[in-house]
Amino acid sequence: MLETRVLAQREAHMKVTILCENTVGHRIGLGEHGFSVLIETGHGNYLFDTGRGDSVIRNSLELKKDLRPIKKIFLSHGHYDHTGGLPEVLKLRGKVDVHAHPHVFLDRVHVVDENGKETKRFVGIPFKKSYLELLGANFILNREFVQVEEEIFLTGEVPRKTSFEKLDPKLFAVTDGKTSPDVFLDDQSLVLTTQRGLLVILGCAHSGVINILNHVISKTGKDKFYAIIGGTHLDFLAPEQMEESIKALRKISFERIGASHCTGMRGAFRLHEEFGDRFFYGHVGSTLDI
Ligand SMILES: [Fe+2]
Ligand SMILES: [Fe+2]
Repeated sequence: MLETRVLAQREAHMKVTILCENTVGHRIGLGEHGFSVLIETGHGNYLFDTGRGDSVIRNSLELKKDLRPIKKIFLSHGHYDHTGGLPEVLKLRGKVDVHAHPHVFLDRVHVVDENGKETKRFVGIPFKKSYLELLGANFILNREFVQVEEEIFLTGEVPRKTSFEKLDPKLFAVTDGKTSPDVFLDDQSLVLTTQRGLLVILGCAHSGVINILNHVISKTGKDKFYAIIGGTHLDFLAPEQMEESIKALRKISFERIGASHCTGMRGAFRLHEEFGDRFFYGHVGSTLDI
C-alpha cells in the first residue's frame, strides 16, 4: 500500500526550471533578454520558449538539463526573444513537434523614439518556417485552448475582456505589407495541472495577465493557482494599468508569483511590495518543485 502511494507521488512530481531570462540570480548561467522554461514531468520533458538564442544551450548544460530527449516545444508568441533559440535546440534535438499559434510567423516591429528620432527594429521570429522545418520542427498550429499532454494545456487565443489591459503602443505587426498595432492573437500561455493547483507559464502576457488567468479559469473550471510565472509586461504599460492589474490579481487565488523578463524592475518591485513572500523573481536557474 505504502509502495503504491510513493509511486503515485513520484508520478505526480513535476519540476519547472527557468533556462533563459534577463537576469542571473545564482552563480550559474548567462542572462539575456529572453525567456525559456523547461518542464520536467513523470511522462517526459517539455520546453516552453527558447530565449533569443545565446543562452538556451549553454544554460541547459550548466544547469545539467539534457534538451536532447524533450518531447515537445511550445512557443508563447513570435517575438525573437522567445523564438530565437529554436534552431539551436532543433540542431540538438532533431525532429520534434513545435506547438504555436499560426501568427507566430508574422513580421513584427518595435518602434522607439530615440532622441526625437523614430527607430524601427525587427522583433519577429528571426527564421523562416521552412528553415526551422529543415532542422526538424514539425509545427502544430492552434488557435483554441488545447490539451497537448497529460496535465499540460495551451491557452490558444485569449479573449480580451478587461477594460484596463491595453496593447503596447510601441509594438506593431506587418500583415500584407501593412504595419498596424500588434494585437498578438498568437500570445498563449502554458497551463500545468499540478497536485497543488494550476501552474501558469506566461511568455510576455501581451494579451494581459488578467485576461489570461480569467481565460484559464473559464476553460479549466478551476480557480486555484499554485503559481503564475513568466513575463507579465507590467513595466511597459501605463502606471494606472499596472495598478488595475495588481488590484485584479488580489482577487485571484495563488500561492506564488514568479515574475520574470518583461515584468521589468518596476513591475517586479510593485508585485513584491504587494504580495510579499508569495513573490519571487524568476531568473536563470529558478525552480519550482511540485
Ligand atoms: Fe519577451
Ligand atoms: Fe513579447
